[in-house]
Amino acid sequence: MYNQPMLRDDALSGKTIIVTGGGTGLGRAMSTYFLKLGANVVITSRKLDVLEKAASEMETETGGKVLPLQCDVRNPDEIDAVLKASLARFETVNGLLNNAAGNFISPTERLSANAFSTIIDIVLKGTANCTMALGKHWIKEKQPGTILNIITTYAFTGSGYVVPSACAKGGVLAMTRSLAAEWGKYGIRNNAIAPGPFPTKGAWDRLLPGDMAKKFDFKNRVPLKRVGDHQELANLAAFLMSDFSGYINGEIITIDGGEWLQGAGQFNGLEMVTPEMWDMLEQMTRSAKGS
Ligand code: HXC
Ligand code: NAP
Repeated sequence: MYNQPMLRDDALSGKTIIVTGGGTGLGRAMSTYFLKLGANVVITSRKLDVLEKAASEMETETGGKVLPLQCDVRNPDEIDAVLKASLARFETVNGLLNNAAGNFISPTERLSANAFSTIIDIVLKGTANCTMALGKHWIKEKQPGTILNIITTYAFTGSGYVVPSACAKGGVLAMTRSLAAEWGKYGIRNNAIAPGPFPTKGAWDRLLPGDMAKKFDFKNRVPLKRVGDHQELANLAAFLMSDFSGYINGEIITIDGGEWLQGAGQFNGLEMVTPEMWDMLEQMTRSAKGS
């Protein structure tokens, strides 16, 4: 069931949603479902050829309308141009999905200052740039709006080897909660999704290059023993974008099969203990009663 569409067919009818990084991976999966639910979608990223091909395939698959626009989220002028072009094509914009990101694995001491800044600029400042552009527009026009940010579970815990990304996603988490409080009065909701492992080419090429994907098999880290399916993430994103979630504001929803808690709980590693070993351990712990 989790890989099936969940919402009613008109859940996003009449809405226009801008999706950064909407031409690939999870951004494309979420955009495709938004289209199926009646939304118009503006997909943006740096590679116009990728966007145009994706837009044409997505229109064929869903019958919806997709506007592909080149935009580097690090450049506020390009974001303003996206807003202008979106309004010219669809008249209003109702939602923003901050999905674009950059990442790679590296020991932190090997990073140059520019490597660190590049990730912060794309993930934290890029999200802020898009959020500010849409927020200012909605406040000026006295329109409600919905912002959904894609973070990660290591925004809560931190993680070695992806430190710039962890810092940036942690910042986006803080932005989500801060603006939920500040902009609620304008009818602008801010929420975030923290996905666990959902295989995509973009993430796997940069985080699990070569045969690392086999050696570091994510599903073994997840209590449910599987990775995420793109549709189940799309179901959650569509719900949070829709008016059905109209009272949810400032929430971070984790969708990771329990992965981060598995890593966090002090005794979770005892999963490796066999029933025979448990028999022995039980005897030992019971006999410790008198000591
Ligand atoms: C060390 C690196 C590096 C690496 C780049 N740099 N790759 N340093 N190890 N593997 C350094 C460069 O040398 C340079 O520093 C600086 O970073 C900027 O690199 P550029 O290639 O000039 O940057 P740019 O063209 O802007 O590309 C950005 C990028 C790239 C982030 C480096 O990977 C990219 O375009 N990524 C977009 C897609 C992506 O990352 N998707 C995955 C999201 S997954 P110097 O000092 O040499 O100038 C994700 C999920 C996490 O976030 C959770 C999964 C479970
Ligand atoms: P992806 O396909 O590589 O998506 C990243 C997208 O961001 C690409 O479309 C890329 O397009 C765009 N992008 C990168 N830099 C940009 C920039 N400067 N300006 C505009 N767009 C830019 O990887 P993904 O796995 O689908 O990731 C999508 C989101 O999910 C990210 O926020 C990621 O952190 C998050 N996430 C993923 C996972 C997972 O397991 N896959 C887990 C947790 C969180 P261009 O290269 O054309 O610019």
